[in-house]
Amino acid sequence: MHYLDAVTARDQSGKKYLVFASNNYLGLTFASEVRQAAAAAALQQGTGSTGSRLTTGGVGAATILEKELAQFKHAEAALIFNTGYMTNLGVLFALAKPTDVIFSDELNHASIIDGCRISKARIVIYKHGDSRDLEQKLQQWEQAAQTKHNAVPVCRFIVSDGVFSMDGDIAPLPELVRLKQQYQATLVLDDAHAVGVLGNDGSGTAAHYHLEGQVDVQVGTLSKSLAAEGGYVAGKKIIIDYLRNKSRPFIFSTFLSPADMAAALAALRLLRKDAPAYLQRLRENTEYVRRALTAAGLPVVPGTTPIVPVIVGAADLAVKLEQRLRQEGILLSAIRPPTVAPGSSRLRITVTAAHTQTQLQQLVAALGRAWLECM
Ligand SMILES: Cc1ncc(COP(=O)(O)O)c(C=O)c1O
Repeated sequence: MHYLDAVTARDQSGKKYLVFASNNYLGLTFASEVRQAAAAAALQQGTGSTGSRLTTGGVGAATILEKELAQFKHAEAALIFNTGYMTNLGVLFALAKPTDVIFSDELNHASIIDGCRISKARIVIYKHGDSRDLEQKLQQWEQAAQTKHNAVPVCRFIVSDGVFSMDGDIAPLPELVRLKQQYQATLVLDDAHAVGVLGNDGSGTAAHYHLEGQVDVQVGTLSKSLAAEGGYVAGKKIIIDYLRNKSRPFIFSTFLSPADMAAALAALRLLRKDAPAYLQRLRENTEYVRRALTAAGLPVVPGTTPIVPVIVGAADLAVKLEQRLRQEGILLSAIRPPTVAPGSSRLRITVTAAHTQTQLQQLVAALGRAWLECM
């Protein structure tokens, strides 16, 4: 697929599509400031970083970007990794030890699941978004810690997506913050789908709940609203310094290119300068699609974020709908097991600030027709 602008793309046969499947929530991959910054960086500094950040790969803009990301996330410091996936791996692997315990939401992203696994910490899965279940599980550990001294975990972690990538719902952060305080746990929150989406300044889940400064470790990605590639973690300086020195995915991989750093920095600055305008467009577009599809009788999972799941049920039906929409020039994703539970296959629509009203109407009309034909 070859993008023509932020929301249209062409496939290899030359067929054009309207895209409702990207994570380019603010449409910044085609903002002229972002493209010019990336092009200038490549022309002036070359196309690759040539090494790990700790050797020759120290791209200048990375330090500036980290400083601005930390300010944006209301944190003391930040550290950039090569992808959001590697950030979760790198953070959990470095921070959680085999004697520790991680409490993880059952619908957390695969990169969190993999990070938990490689840490070798004990993993306790709590029901999705269910703080009562989490509390019960924390209590059980507390009781075990008081009775069985050998099994006492050294540290507890609570880890959750901020916005869940397949359901589009928002983590119950006030409860997670309360529980992490009550049980002396470290709270790790992955805001990959929340930055550029939640909060008055677009800085994510903590800002959405007015809980800035309350999350210990905030993970994010540069590959969604920030229009580039890469991931980052923001938190207290002592944690970030530790990760810089101990996190293997950070240490042992060639760093991102100057163009990636310049693009992400330009996108972040655009967002910080004009957050209300970007967020208003995104929220209006999201509301329109959610309302119109619901009014047309489609089973939209209720919510407020631009991840709009339409539950189909059977996997083959979801694929049939996806293909039918492709014929009409609409690109969206059929999500099936194992990504989601059996029987909950769905169409996952992502809305962006860059879609026009006409394009949103095209989606609603095409999906309505396809639904009547296939269901
Ligand atoms: C919640 C979440 N975390 C992390 C990632 C990984 O980010 P990246 O694509 O930058 O590796 C994703 C990617 O889709 C995600 O949805």
